Amino acid sequence: MQSLEQHFDCIRILYSCTDIQNQVPDGDEEISDFPGDPAGLSLQFKNVTFKYPQSSKLALEGVSFTIEPGQLCVVVGRNGSGKSSIVKLISRLYDCTGGMILVENHPVQQFRLTAYRRLVSTLPQEFTFFPLTVAENIGLGDPEHAEDHDRILKAAESGGAIEFIERDLADGFRTRLKGPSAFHIHSGDDRFSQWANKEVQKHRATSLSGGQWQKLALSRTFMRSSDVYLFQRLRDLRGKKTMLFVTHRFGHLTRTADKIIVMEAGQVLEQGTHSDLLAKEGLYARMYNSQAMAFSTV
Ligand SMILES: Nc1ncnc2c1ncn2[C@@H]1O[C@H](COP(=O)(O)OP(=O)(O)O)[C@@H](O)[C@H]1O
Ligand SMILES: [Mg+2]
Repeated sequence: MQSLEQHFDCIRILYSCTDIQNQVPDGDEEISDFPGDPAGLSLQFKNVTFKYPQSSKLALEGVSFTIEPGQLCVVVGRNGSGKSSIVKLISRLYDCTGGMILVENHPVQQFRLTAYRRLVSTLPQEFTFFPLTVAENIGLGDPEHAEDHDRILKAAESGGAIEFIERDLADGFRTRLKGPSAFHIHSGDDRFSQWANKEVQKHRATSLSGGQWQKLALSRTFMRSSDVYLFQRLRDLRGKKTMLFVTHRFGHLTRTADKIIVMEAGQVLEQGTHSDLLAKEGLYARMYNSQAMAFSTV
């Protein structure tokens, strides 16, 4: 139980966040002033270099690629190769330290952030659990149906979580989770990140095992009957929006992408279409063939 005073403290801290200055400077051009291409925005990285504020090591080094309006681009590469950093720079959570990022042929820093962020959406694939009930945490997988208990039950069944929820948790689906199991607050402002992550640590009191958290995460994705619907919706947007995917999987998406960018240690190792890269017999070809082999033996 928290005292009223503690509640007020929380509210005060929450509101004080609005006083934190944004560390990526705002631009003054409205992006909607650029009619652009109705198929989506064009994006170009020109010799982009990037280092995280507290790091001494380059996360990206001399990265160059172009995505035309409406193209579907897939970024692949090992852990730590720089995929997420590319996405963070596109979302302007950070600014690049060298080179240039052009959107509609304008340096991205010129645009007013609020207008820019309305036009650019990112869909993260990280799982974050909130101090809500188990049912609510699963329901978040599809906010429109977050109250649909039948759907939540089916999702928990498909995700393999229903057994431990009903057997091990005192209040079943109504059990309130104590805190997030995995929580990364990415913010351009380090003071906010530090504060938020500290708050999260304070409340971290996980009563579930690693495998159980995983099953909950899986159940959440089953709220949308696996990713099938998501991919269907994204396929409908093909040619109408410029899309960039980060993935570890090689398959339909990489085979049909307009461009694949293979990252390795912060640099672009290879780029081209699936057939270009297979013909090259480089890292992409090796990764594709080894995954194809792994799947064919399953
Ligand atoms: N917040 C951060 N602060 C400092 N270094 C980071 C941070 N996030 C990632 N890095 C480093 O930047 C490099 C690229 O990471 P990242 O873009 O997350 O790779 P990927 O998404 O391909 O796994 C790695 O060396 C990683 O350790
Ligand atoms: Mg990543």
